[in-house]
Amino acid sequence: MFKRIEQLKKEKNAVILAHYYAPAQVQALADYVGDSFYLAKVAKQNDADIIVFCGVYFMGESAKILNPDKKVLMPDLTADCPMAHMVKDGLIDSMRAEYEDLAVVCYINSTAELKSQSDVCVTSSNAVEIVRKLPNKNIFFIPDRNLGRFVKEQVPEKNIILNDGCCPIHAKITAEQLNEEKKKHPEALILTHPECEPEVVSLSDYIGSTADIISFAKNSSNTEFIVCTEEGVDYQLITDNPQKQFYFPNPHPCCADMKLNTPENVVSVLENEDRVVEVSAEICEKALIPLDRMLQLAN
Ligand code: 13P
Ligand code: SF4
Repeated sequence: MFKRIEQLKKEKNAVILAHYYAPAQVQALADYVGDSFYLAKVAKQNDADIIVFCGVYFMGESAKILNPDKKVLMPDLTADCPMAHMVKDGLIDSMRAEYEDLAVVCYINSTAELKSQSDVCVTSSNAVEIVRKLPNKNIFFIPDRNLGRFVKEQVPEKNIILNDGCCPIHAKITAEQLNEEKKKHPEALILTHPECEPEVVSLSDYIGSTADIISFAKNSSNTEFIVCTEEGVDYQLITDNPQKQFYFPNPHPCCADMKLNTPENVVSVLENEDRVVEVSAEICEKALIPLDRMLQLAN
């Protein structure tokens, strides 16, 4: 299968991008693997004719918005992030009416439609840095209340208004599960994604995006870690640190949508080019503004 993928990629000048939550076999065959921010940068910079995005739909949409002239394919178009839709209709307009200087800060885990109504996009690896740089005092942070709250704590000089959305996978991790793991592995450091609930974040030794968690584990002299994010990061963590131990809360956090990306689907979408990400020209044009602003503001 690997040979067939290489042949198809060459024939079609295609590149394969995969998020750290995609299944291990998909990460192993991808050209680029990373967190949402890294993948957005790769999508913007590469010169392939076809991008195959092994992630969830908002990621494919972002790649398309950044490259309106390229063909963006997804192994399974139904792979969707539930949180990406969690902003009530009309809420952005009513917030704008209430606060004159409002900046709508949109976590990249959102639909293209929501991005098109926003001022700047952020990911979990650059949200604090970007919000700090904005001239606006009033910030409406959508859709994730947990990442929003984390930013609010780091940037107390702003009035950050939270929206009631969350990632159902990260929000399911509990303090009880964490304490259970800590009892079994008392020396382990707790590494947590900011999409987790506050009770989990407050028990953690380090909070960061998937890429930040991976680099923290690599650079730490500690040899045991409890990882509070989706279990797919295990692949990179073990690859980088075969001598270290990684534990996950029980049951392991697993994003079923990310797991819809399979090696078989990658081959068939490359062969047939039939699962195409479509974003209207109008939405592409409007949503490009906050995405480009993120790329400019983030280091
Ligand atoms: P990052 O890639 O920014 O760590 O976000 C995690 C996530 O939930 C992606 O869906
Ligand atoms: Fe969405 Fe959560 Fe899955 Fe990430 S892990 S894609 S935020 S549902």
